[in-house]
Formats: sequence, structure tokens, C-alpha cells
Amino acid sequence: MSQIGENLLKAANLLESDELVAIPTETVYGLAANALSETAVVKIFEAKNRPSFNPLIVHVVDVAAINTYAEIDPISLQLAEAFMPGPFTLLLPKKPIIPDLVTAGSSKVAVRVPNQIMTTKLLMLLKFPLAAPSANPSGYVSPTTALHVQEGLKNKVAYILDGGQSEVGVESTIVEVIDGKIILHRTGAVSAEQMEQLTGLKVVAAESSEKPSTAGQMKSHYATKTPLYRGDIAKMIREHQDKNIAVISFKKQYDGLKTGHQYVLSPKGNLNEAAKHLFSVMRCIDEFQFDMIITELFPDKGLGRAINDRLGRAQAMYKS
Ligand code: TXA
Ligand code: MG
Repeated sequence: MSQIGENLLKAANLLESDELVAIPTETVYGLAANALSETAVVKIFEAKNRPSFNPLIVHVVDVAAINTYAEIDPISLQLAEAFMPGPFTLLLPKKPIIPDLVTAGSSKVAVRVPNQIMTTKLLMLLKFPLAAPSANPSGYVSPTTALHVQEGLKNKVAYILDGGQSEVGVESTIVEVIDGKIILHRTGAVSAEQMEQLTGLKVVAAESSEKPSTAGQMKSHYATKTPLYRGDIAKMIREHQDKNIAVISFKKQYDGLKTGHQYVLSPKGNLNEAAKHLFSVMRCIDEFQFDMIITELFPDKGLGRAINDRLGRAQAMYKS
């Protein structure tokens, strides 16, 4: 099993030696390597069993550092200054210093400035940026604690830097500015409305697909091992009385379920709190022998959209 700890110097030394280190971020934990070293980056794909056509996000210490690795246009810069550091990723034309392996051959690189104190300190210690996808085996739910990383990657990572539970709990918003439009590749804590209000520009959703041709967004992803279905919870409970079911709901408690079968993400009805708990709950349910997970559509606003997106992708695994 990989060691978990809070030793920043140890993490920095390992990264300098082209080893993998899991890092805490406010969204989810990342599996990091020196983004400028192909020897290091190739280890990420191996450890996650990630297809090499799926590109990685490059994490830098601050907005000023973006210039070294990518070309930044005025609108992207405006977005960066407003939402970075934070749960926000920009696709930008890459500079040659970024290896093609990181971008899977694309001329664009995804750049993010994480907002997590330990990872910021780590980036300050290093002379290179960190390529980091979420620190889970490819296709599974992203980790929001150091323990999740350890459970998923076993001994495939040299060290896990423990920064506690991720504050946001779902992956960053990913956008790309093209022809005066903001293309939304992945929903996250920074909303389309916030970006429209800031820039006065329209935010349009990118097409999701089975083949990650645009932003590497595969439809079936983030999936639990337990089959997951979304719909009218009360009705589905009645229909599946013969089955061992687990329910993930937003704020409502349902009748007719035993304790331990029901996971209410936010009894107060707070979408931020629900997002923070979502992946832990999905993982927790997978540890028991449930036949199926029943869940619902969350309110279509704020982080409710990111929750709906991730649960929709998990469901896509089981619906064909
Ligand atoms: O919150 C996050 O973004 C977390 C933390 C660790 O920073 N990272 C994360 O990475 O979620 P990952 O690899 O699990 O998801 C990144 C997504 C992938 O779907 C990938 O295909 C897409 O971003 N992506 C990365 N670089 C890209 C590029 N150059 N062009 C298009 N899509 C890209
Ligand atoms: Mg991921």
C-alpha cells in the first residue's frame, strides 16, 4: 500500500525523481507527475490504466505561470483572473514545452490553478508544473480523500499527500473559448451563469460522446460497480421490493427502507454539501453487496448540474 502523509519535501523529492504523487485539490485528488517529463507522465497512464488518447490537465501555481506553457487570449485571461485559483480549467493552445503525451497529441492543453494550500505550497517548491488526472483507476469514481486514493491505486503511487477531504467534491469546470463563445466541456462548481455574467458572452455546451474527440468526455464514466438507475425514487422503490437496493437522494428521506440503505446527501437541501458527499457515498455503497443504486435528478442549478452530469454518466454504464 502507498504511504499517506503530509510531508511536502518528500512529495517534492519524489516528483523531481519522476515518481507519481497523489495530491489533494479542492475538487478531487489528482495523480501527479512532472508535466515536462515524458518518463514521469507515462507512469500516470500506466497506474490508472488510462487510454493514452485521453489527455491530462496541467496544474500550475498561479495565473501568471500559465504563459510559460500556453497562449492565453484576452477572454480566457479574464476568466482565469476571475475563477483561478479555483475549480476551473481552461483549454488553451499549448506551447512546445508541454509534451504531446500530456495533451494526447492535441494542440491544446488543459490548465488549472488548484486552490488547496498544501498543493499550492508543493507547486511553489517545484520548478515544473504537475500533470494530474483524478487519482482513480480509469472509469471509476474520483477520490475525495487520501484513503480513497490508497484503496483505488494500492501501491501504484509513490506517496499520497493528505490534505483532508476535498472541499468541492466534484471535478473542475472545463471551458474553451472559440470565436467569442465559451464552450463548456465539463460542468463543475463554476457555473455557466457566472461566466456569462463576467464576460457578457454566451456559454454553449460541448457535445458529449463515446469517443473523446473534443474534450475527452466519455459518456460512461465515473461509474459505480453497483448498477445505478435514476428516476422517481418512491416509484422505483416499489418496483424493486424484491431487490437489495441503496438509495441516493438529495434531501428527502424515503419510507420502507432499512437503515444503511438510504443516503441523503444534504438533509438541509444544500447543493454544495450534496456535491461534497456524492463520491464518498457512491464508493461507500460499492463496498456492500447491493443489487442496485436508485437515485434522482437533482435541481438543475449550481452544483446540481455537475451532480446530474456525473450520475448521468454513471447510469450510462448500465443503460444501453
Ligand atoms: O478537478 C479536476 O479537474 C481534477 C483535479 C485533479 O484537478 N482533474 C481531473 O482530471 O478531473 P481528469 O483527467 O480526470 O479529467 C480531465 C478531463 C478529461 O476528460 C480529459 O479528457 C479532459 O479533461 N482534457 C484534458 N486535457 C485536454 C485537452 N488538451 N483537450 C481536451 N480535453 C482535455
Ligand atoms: Mg477523471
